[in-house]
Amino acid sequence: MTGPSEAIAAAAASLEAGELVAFPTETVYGLGADAENPAAVARIYAAKGRPQDHPVIVHVAPGADLDYWVTDVPPAARQLAQAFWPGPLTLILKRNTHIPDAVSGGQDTVGIRCPSHPVAIALLSAFKGGKGGVAAPSANKFGNVSPTTAQHVKDEFAGEVGAGMAVAAVLDGGNSQVGIESTILDLSRLATHGPVLLRPGHISSQQIADVIGAMPQSPDQTAPRASGTLESHYAPKAPVALLPTCDIPATVSALAARGRRVALIHYTPIAASEPSVALPDEPKGYAYGVYAALRAMDQEQVDLILVETPPQDAEWAGVNDRLRRAAFGSAGIIERFLTP
Ligand code: TXA
Ligand code: MG
Repeated sequence: MTGPSEAIAAAAASLEAGELVAFPTETVYGLGADAENPAAVARIYAAKGRPQDHPVIVHVAPGADLDYWVTDVPPAARQLAQAFWPGPLTLILKRNTHIPDAVSGGQDTVGIRCPSHPVAIALLSAFKGGKGGVAAPSANKFGNVSPTTAQHVKDEFAGEVGAGMAVAAVLDGGNSQVGIESTILDLSRLATHGPVLLRPGHISSQQIADVIGAMPQSPDQTAPRASGTLESHYAPKAPVALLPTCDIPATVSALAARGRRVALIHYTPIAASEPSVALPDEPKGYAYGVYAALRAMDQEQVDLILVETPPQDAEWAGVNDRLRRAAFGSAGIIERFLTP
């Protein structure tokens, strides 16, 4: 038996040896590698089946030196780090010249965040004495739903976890408390474009504006590429369709009449005879449960996962973003199922 501190020390040693370690963060589990070892970062892409030109976030320990990773750190970045780190905010900044290309898919920027999960902090503090950076995308195969438990990670990398395998170890830190990936804010073109929100999350645009005095804008055509902003992302294997509350009963009956098996994810009280998950009717609780719900409903071998469309207010932006992407590849699916 190894205790928690032995497991952390072993995981830090694995990272230092260029191996991959999956670890919990407060958002989702990450698949980590030494950010300064291009061969190790390449192993992340291989394990995930992810294209090489997609940048990964560099995770750093509390108190890490931003100037080591980034050139021209704007005051806004220091203010946001002060306000929200450790926590679920990723800042895109100008990459320092000695930081390998591999972490940013060849772009001249780097994404940095200091996570708040205690196991992540322990790992980052042990790795290279707290001076390193751990490059980590979400610990799922490319395009799949992000993992929020250690078991989800083991399911994604079944048969690939252990000494000498693709993933050396999976650290277990329980359920990720936020449940959806970090807010990503681009500050790399502040002078010309202002702050740009690349991915909504738990930390809202309003919270950011309250700290830096400027509201983040939506990305334009020339904004840095972010793979989590690909339309079809975070998707389970079964098709996903969003449906307004009032259309659910009739649609479920019509699909059943055509012999289609559906699962339902809802947040208002709906009596369901099909496999279903009821999520909380407030955005933080919903975000906490949404990926586990998509995974659970995917295991029901249904033809379609119906999701009750959440409210469209700003507090639901992160949740709605992930659901829209999960449903992206399935546009028109209900109509196709109902057409004789
Ligand atoms: O909450 C999170 O951010 C989780 C945990 C593990 O920290 N990580 C995560 O990583 O979601 P990933 O790789 O699944 O998504 C990271 C997103 C991608 O969309 C990537 O393109 C974007 O961050 N990104 C990373 N570095 C970037 C850069 N230099 N420029 C633009 N986008 C970047
Ligand atoms: Mg991801």
